[in-house]
Amino acid sequence: MIPFLLFCLCHSVSAQIHYSIYEEMQKGSSIGNLANDLGLNIKEISLRKLRIVSRLSEKYFSINILNGNLNVADRIDRETLCGAAEECFLTFDAVIENPLNVYHVRVDIKDINDNPPRFVKEEIELEISESTLPGVRFVIQNAEDRDKGINSLLKYKLSANKYFELGEKTSTDGRKLPELVLETSLDRETQSYYEFTLTASDGGNPVQTGTTLIKITVIDFNDNFPIFTQEVYKLSISENIPLNSPVLCVNASDKDTGTNAQITYSFSTTSENVLHVFAINKITGQITNKGVVNYEDSKYYDISVQAQDGGGLVTHAKVLLEILDENDNTPEIYVTSITTPISEDSAIGTVVALIEAHDTDSGGNGEVDCQIIGAMPFKLLSTSGNFYKIIIKNPLDREKTSCYNITIKATDKGSPPLSFEKTIRLDISDVNDNLPKFEKSSYTVFVHENNQPGASIYSIQALDRDAEENAKLVYSIISNDTEQLPSYVSINPVSGVIYAQRPFDYEQDKEFQIQVMAKDSGSPSLNSSTVVKIHVIDQNDNSPTILYPSPDAGSTLYEIVPFSSKQGSLVTKVVAVDADSGHNGWLSYYSLQDSDTSFFIIDTYTGEVKTSRTFQERDVSRHRVVVMVKDNGNPPLSSTVTLNIVIADHFQHVLPDLSNQSRKLETQTNIQIYLVIAIALISFLFMLTVILAIISKYRESKSSTSFSSVSAYPPMDPRFLPKFNNGTLPFPYSYDVCVTLDPSERDFAYLKPPHNVPVESLIDADDSGIGNNSLKETVHSVDIVQGHVEVWSRT
Ligand SMILES: *[C@@H]1O[C@H](CO)[C@@H](O)[C@H](O)[C@H]1NC(C)=O
Ligand SMILES: *[C@@H]1O[C@H](CO)[C@@H](O)[C@H](O)[C@H]1NC(C)=O
Ligand SMILES: *[C@@H]1O[C@H](CO)[C@@H](O)[C@H](O)[C@H]1NC(C)=O
Ligand SMILES: *[C@@H]1O[C@H](CO)[C@@H](O)[C@H](O)[C@H]1NC(C)=O
Ligand SMILES: *[C@@H]1O[C@H](CO)[C@@H](O)[C@H](O)[C@H]1NC(C)=O
Repeated sequence: MIPFLLFCLCHSVSAQIHYSIYEEMQKGSSIGNLANDLGLNIKEISLRKLRIVSRLSEKYFSINILNGNLNVADRIDRETLCGAAEECFLTFDAVIENPLNVYHVRVDIKDINDNPPRFVKEEIELEISESTLPGVRFVIQNAEDRDKGINSLLKYKLSANKYFELGEKTSTDGRKLPELVLETSLDRETQSYYEFTLTASDGGNPVQTGTTLIKITVIDFNDNFPIFTQEVYKLSISENIPLNSPVLCVNASDKDTGTNAQITYSFSTTSENVLHVFAINKITGQITNKGVVNYEDSKYYDISVQAQDGGGLVTHAKVLLEILDENDNTPEIYVTSITTPISEDSAIGTVVALIEAHDTDSGGNGEVDCQIIGAMPFKLLSTSGNFYKIIIKNPLDREKTSCYNITIKATDKGSPPLSFEKTIRLDISDVNDNLPKFEKSSYTVFVHENNQPGASIYSIQALDRDAEENAKLVYSIISNDTEQLPSYVSINPVSGVIYAQRPFDYEQDKEFQIQVMAKDSGSPSLNSSTVVKIHVIDQNDNSPTILYPSPDAGSTLYEIVPFSSKQGSLVTKVVAVDADSGHNGWLSYYSLQDSDTSFFIIDTYTGEVKTSRTFQERDVSRHRVVVMVKDNGNPPLSSTVTLNIVIADHFQHVLPDLSNQSRKLETQTNIQIYLVIAIALISFLFMLTVILAIISKYRESKSSTSFSSVSAYPPMDPRFLPKFNNGTLPFPYSYDVCVTLDPSERDFAYLKPPHNVPVESLIDADDSGIGNNSLKETVHSVDIVQGHVEVWSRT
C-alpha cells in the first residue's frame, strides 16, 4: 500500500501538531516535515536534538534529523491499536533543546479495508427434518469484520440453490444475523445432504469477503411406504414338495432409514387353507410350506402378504401360487354294474360289467388306460369318458372255468405311471350242455349163476359235467330186443346199482346185454346210454349126464365080451356129458369095484372099459360094473351107471336068463313104490280134512257181529304174488287189508301196516324211490288175481 501522506499543519496556541495517516503505511514512509511544521530551522534541529519522547509511539515513528521529516518506523495496524474504537490516534511529544521546547504531536490513524469479514466457524452443520415445512427459518452464525465503518459493513450471499433463501434477522444487540429460509420441502430420500457456501462481503474498496460452508443433513421422517419388488408375485410349484421348502421370498424395501425402514412381513389373509399350508418369515419374507401342498386339495393359492415398516406403514402384495400336478394319485376302478352269474351260453359280445376308471390327477396324470390282465375270454371296450364295458370275447364254458377273477389294470399316463389293479369275480352259471357220459361205452359184468335174487351185481356210473339239476342223473334200463330181459335185472335210478332180479342159469343164458340210459334232470334233459354185457359164470350145478349106456335102458342092456378076449380088449365106452362148462365139465370115470378082483378096468379120461385079464373057465359069466362119472367142479358132482357085462361067446347063451331075471326084479320094485305112495296120499288127505274141519269150527265161534260174514278165501300175503315189473325189484312187505262186509260200506277199504310200523320202514332202503309205487301196484294186482277185494280181519 502506498502511504497516503496527509500533511496538516495546524498551529495552535497549544502548539499541538496534528497529523492523520492511514494505517498500514510502509516503514519509512514520511508522515510530514515536523521541523517545518514546528517552524524550526532544519540546520538547527540536529544541533538542538529534536527527538520523540513517548513510551508507546517511539516504536512507530522516527524523525529524520537531516530534513526533519517524521517517518513511519513500524507497521501501524489500526485494529491492533484501537480495536473496535471509533477514534484511533497515536500521540507523542517532540522535544528540542537549546532552548528546550516541547511540542505535542497527535497522529490520527485512519482505517483502511485491510480485514476481510470472517465467520466464527468455517463450517456450519445443520440437521433439518425432511418433514419441515417451507418457510421455516434457521438462524446462522454471523460473520465479523474488524474494520470500521464502511469497511465493516457486511453483505451476505448464499450459493445458488432452490431449497433455501437467505434471510436476515436483527438481534437484540443490533447485530444483523443471516438466516436460512426453507423454500421447498426436503426429501431425504431424494437428497439427504446439502452443502451451501455463505459468503459475507464488506463495503470496502476493494471488497473483502469471507465464506463459511453450511452442511445440511436431512433427517429421516417415515414418509415412505415399504414397496414390494413386485405387486404380484406369480409362480408355480409342484405339489408334494418337502415340508418347509422355500417357496418364494417376497422382498419389500423402504426408502426411509433406521427403524422406518425395518420391515416385517406377514400374511394378510384369513383364508384357512393358506394359513395351514404356508408360513412366512417375518424378517426375510421367505414363504415356506409348513403343510402338505396337494394339488388335489387346491390347485391355486391367492396369498396376500403385507410388509410393515417400523413406523407402522403397511403395504400389501399378492402371491399367486399355482400348484402343478404331479402323478401322485393312483387310478381307481369302480364297478358300476356287473351281471354275475352269467350264463355260459351267453353270446360273444354280451356286456358283462361296466366299470369306471378314475384318477384324481389332472392332465396326462389323470388319463387312465385299462386293460385286462392275463388271458381271459373277455375284453374291454372303452365307452364314453372313463367308462369301459367288459364284454365276452370267447365262448364261455362253465365246465372248464366256473368262475373268473377278471383282473383289470388301470394305468395313468404320468411319468412314472401309476397303476391299480382290481379283480372282479364273475361266476358262470350252468347250462345243460353236457351229455351224461358213461366211463366206458360198454361194460362187462361177470355174475355167478345161481345168484341170490335181489343181490346187486354191478354199479354203473355216468358223469355229467354240468352242475346241480343239470348233472342230476336218473338211470334206467332200456332194452331193445329180448322182452324177458327187464325181468332179469333192475337198476336203482339214483345210485346206478344193478340188481339181479332172479337167479341166472349159465346153462340157459351164458350172457346177455342190457342198455342203460342215464338222463340228467336239466331242461331239456340230455341222455346217453351204454351197453352192459352180463356174462353168467358157470357153477358146478349140473351132474354129469350119462348118455351111454343110457340109464333109461336099465338092466336090459348088456355088453357081451367074447370069452376069448385078450387082456386089454375094449369092452365098451361110457359116454357122459356135463352141462357145465370148463372145469365143471371135465369128466373123469371111475369104477366102483375093487380093481384087484375086477375083470375090467375103466380109463379115467376116456371112459373106455377094457378087460383087465383073460378069462378062465371057472369065472363068473355075468358081471355088473358100476361106473361113476365125476366132474371136476368143486365140490364135484357125479353120476353112476351100471354096466351089465356078459362073458360069452354067443349072445343066445345068456339072453333068456338075463331078461327073465331083470323083469322080475323090475316088477317087484314098482309094486313097492306104488304102495308107499298110496299110503302117504291117504294119510295126507286125512290130515288135511281134519285140519280144515278144526279151522272152520274155530272161525265160526270167533267171528264178530260187525263182520257178519267172512269170506272163505284164505288170507293172502301179497308178497307172494309174483310181480316183477319193468326192472323194479320185488321187495318184502306186509300189511293188512280190511274191508267191511256191510253192503252199504262195501267200497270202503284201507291199508294198514301191521304193528303200526311206518310204511317207509317197510320199504327196502335200497329201493326207496320205488316203494310207494310198487305198493299201489301190488294192491291192484291183488284185485286182479282174486277178482275182488280180499277180506281179512285180524280182529
Ligand atoms: C430385495 O430387493 C432389493 C432391491 O430391490 C435387493 O437389493 C435385495 O437384495 C433384495 N433382498 C432379497 C432378500 O432378495
Ligand atoms: C378267485 O379269487 C378267489 C379269492 O379271491 C379264489 O378263492 C378263487 O379260487 C379265485 N378263482 C379263480 C378262478 O382263480
Ligand atoms: C339190440 O341188442 C342187440 C344185442 O342184443 C344189439 O346188437 C343191437 O345193436 C341192439 N339194437 C338196437 C337198435 O339198439
Ligand atoms: C334221448 O336223447 C335223444 C336225443 O339225443 C332224444 O331223441 C330221446 O328222446 C331221449 N330219450 C329220452 C328217454 O329222453
Ligand atoms: C322065462 O324062463 C322060462 C324058463 O325058466 C322060460 O320058459 C320062459 O319062456 C321065459 N320067458 C321069457 C319071456 O323069456
